[in-house]
Amino acid sequence: MEKLPNDFLWGGALAAHQFEGGWDQGGKGPSVVDVMTAGAHGVARQITATIERDKFYPNHEAIDFYSKYKEDIALFAEMGLTCLRTSIAWSRIFPKGDETEPNEEGLNFYDNLFDELLKNGIEPVITLSHFEMPLHLAREYGGFRSRKVVDYFVKFAEVCFVRYQDKVKYWMTFNEINNKMDVHNPIFLWTNSGVVITEGENAKEVMYQAGHHELIASALAVAKGKAINPNFKIGAMVSHVPVYPYSSNPADVMLAEEEMRQRYFFPDVHVRGYYPNYVLKEFEREGYNIQMEPGDEEILKNGKVDYLGFSYYMSTTVKSDVHNDNLSNIVNGGLPNGVENPYIQSSDWGWSIDPTGLRYTLNRLYDRYQIPLFIVENGFGAIDTIEEDGDIHDTQRIDYLKSHIEALKKAVLYDGVDLMGYTPWGIIDIVSFTTGEMKKRYGMIYVDRDNEGNGTMKRFKKDSFDWYKTVIRTNGDQL
Ligand code: BG6
Repeated sequence: MEKLPNDFLWGGALAAHQFEGGWDQGGKGPSVVDVMTAGAHGVARQITATIERDKFYPNHEAIDFYSKYKEDIALFAEMGLTCLRTSIAWSRIFPKGDETEPNEEGLNFYDNLFDELLKNGIEPVITLSHFEMPLHLAREYGGFRSRKVVDYFVKFAEVCFVRYQDKVKYWMTFNEINNKMDVHNPIFLWTNSGVVITEGENAKEVMYQAGHHELIASALAVAKGKAINPNFKIGAMVSHVPVYPYSSNPADVMLAEEEMRQRYFFPDVHVRGYYPNYVLKEFEREGYNIQMEPGDEEILKNGKVDYLGFSYYMSTTVKSDVHNDNLSNIVNGGLPNGVENPYIQSSDWGWSIDPTGLRYTLNRLYDRYQIPLFIVENGFGAIDTIEEDGDIHDTQRIDYLKSHIEALKKAVLYDGVDLMGYTPWGIIDIVSFTTGEMKKRYGMIYVDRDNEGNGTMKRFKKDSFDWYKTVIRTNGDQL
């Protein structure tokens, strides 16, 4: 039987704000997530004006990787990871975001982290911005509403590229840059772009303006990075949730096609270097006035990405004759015509489980872009139980991951998709992004911490730990 390429990267994925903790240590400034309280399934996280004493902010301590990174990396190495995807907390490097000089202590932390990874044979895969914009840039400048923030981001990117040019080869600019296309849930615009919509504003128009600035910032960063080290591989990162038609009714098929543009807009620009026709038509139709400067077209053309990283968790389905009023419902994927798919089961948090959707996604993205793809997030958020003997039998998680690896193997070995690697989300339990909970666990390593912040922070191996170790050792042969 054919095998995955020998250099296929097997890793785990994390984000600084969800696992580092140490939110005010080493000179770090507060970021946009440091003012987000904990929520739950169906209970939104609040974005508070300041840090309020009587509120709990789960990202402040997270799982304290900041002080435990050596022992955690030893566990990652024991599992056999060949890469680790994480992010650099922007506000560790530029605490407010608009300083002229970076914070040396913050830079030093990542030097130590990357050295430790490399010492253990683990290649760092680094996202520059994973929901960690300095709070000051959001409050004072309105985040990426402002063109000035483009300069601050590019400066941050340049500092990181120069400092880590011999330690990090794989980069991504913005995490899930496209999830703010869902303007109904305020946390997406806030964490992606530092933007809050005020009454009377057209949220879509503001989103496209901030998005334009981020696309420019990404393209400028790509060009700078390549000039600093031509061997860098700099990618984009998008959330990909395929939209299926509910039936063969042509109206359903066309509706799904149109909804897919929400998924494609950002990667279309990142990869092709220009705006797609359907969005330009939307601007015209809706009367959106998106400020673009002379030279922007050139910038986009000169800052195309080398590869496309994406997250895949689930799929959604649309039906032309329904109309949802509640757009924050995960079952309909925040889509006005979203419906449950009768062929697919869901997790306790309502996320559908659809491994075939991963093969479908890999094919659609590769057909469209013809550049290497990288699955940089995929996983199963679930409640785990520790047995009396200390074991954690996370069979459901293993089943989920196994079926998705089978799907990716089919895409590579049968369909011929060029796939760089696979980094399942939350290789160690971390704070959930959408809910702020700890009990929505993705890890193969359990962390003793609960939703309220109680627990010893001790780490325990789940059954999936040894299972994934075998998967990596056999390069995906033994699942
Ligand atoms: C992606 C994000 O949206 O999904 C991660 O890039 C996030 O930051 C992950 O944690 C899973 O979402 P959640 O809400 O289950 O943590």
